[in-house]
Amino acid sequence: MKILITGGAGFIGSHLAAYFINDNEVFILDNLSTGHRSNVDFIDDAHFIEEDVMHKSFVTELIKQKQFDIVIHLAAVVSVVETINNPINSQSINIDSTLNLLEANRQYNAKLKKFIFASSAAVYGNTDELPKQIETFIDPESPYAIEKYAGEQYAKLYNKLYDLPTTALRFFNVYGPRQDPSSPYSGVLSIMDKKFKNDEPFTFFGDGEQTRDFVYIKDLVQAVAIVIDNEASNGKIYNLATGTQISLLQIFEKFKLIYNKSISYQFAEPRSGDIKHSCAEIKGLEALGFKPKYDIVSGLTEYINYSKTDK
Ligand code: NAD
Ligand code: UD1
Repeated sequence: MKILITGGAGFIGSHLAAYFINDNEVFILDNLSTGHRSNVDFIDDAHFIEEDVMHKSFVTELIKQKQFDIVIHLAAVVSVVETINNPINSQSINIDSTLNLLEANRQYNAKLKKFIFASSAAVYGNTDELPKQIETFIDPESPYAIEKYAGEQYAKLYNKLYDLPTTALRFFNVYGPRQDPSSPYSGVLSIMDKKFKNDEPFTFFGDGEQTRDFVYIKDLVQAVAIVIDNEASNGKIYNLATGTQISLLQIFEKFKLIYNKSISYQFAEPRSGDIKHSCAEIKGLEALGFKPKYDIVSGLTEYINYSKTDK
């Protein structure tokens, strides 16, 4: 199959590309704003398109010409804080480019078998109900959450109105090799890992009691493969997570055990727009055959072993 991964040079996209390259022709479209060409050095230059997903005419022409079987749309402003600082820019990337991609596929790509949109657990906001179910009340706390909600609802609507084979996945907190720890807004586990590796102090924003449902990247890849193989997922939205909840303080203890040492830490003000608790109900994906293979200890152990050997 011919697959397009937008944002494919990033953390999640590079793992999907590495998985799908075995049996498929994989193209990546990425402007390298947060991703790295070196994440996907197994993709040759003919299949690596360095371009902005907001370049509408280019993207439309690409869809028209290549007739992809599968489009996995990941390119986005991924930092909640960045969308709070610059909501107009993030709206263009996160909503407008999604709509344009859907529209280009509707108009010009009769071969499309699946369009996957990367939504987020952030759409649930700070509602009390746990675990978060797809039907749980939506209460976005940031432009990021609104933008992800708009993207997934467009994907769903394109199935309803035009029969486009779309699926939206609400990713919870994904972690694993190649997650870039360089920004203060990077995924918290990549930051914690970097601090442990370099014996630097870690800062908890808030009291450290906030919880997340952390899903290991290989389980995410498994779920995407299942969804692609399953027509019953067309027009649907699923939580992609493990169904377990753990606090940052508890995670810190796991790091201490795996690294067999400790580092100093401090507490700072909670971040604005931050969510206190997050945990998913994953019945929808389980019904399709998804079963997470990694719990937090096995996932962190594999990740940390990888990161120790990575310069
Ligand atoms: P990432 O920053 O590693 O990857 C995003 C990629 O998109 C990067 O390679 C970046 O260069 C590219 N990109 C950004 N803007 C672009 C543009 N305008 N044109 C072309 N390419 C562009 O982040 P990630 O963690 O791999 O996230 C992938 C997707 O999953 C995003 O849509 C994100 O919102 C979503 N998501 C991630 C998580 C998580 O825990 N990592 C959770 C929920 C949702
Ligand atoms: C993350 C994703 C977002 C996704 C969402 C889904 C990243 C960068 N963001 O947001 O794209 O949509 O999950 O649920 O992956 N924290 C600290 N110290 C630090 C860094 C973070 O205490 O040095 C705290 C944060 O304040 C937050 C928690 O750790 O409470 C998790 O933060 P982060 O990894 O940025 O993820 P989310 O905000 O949940």
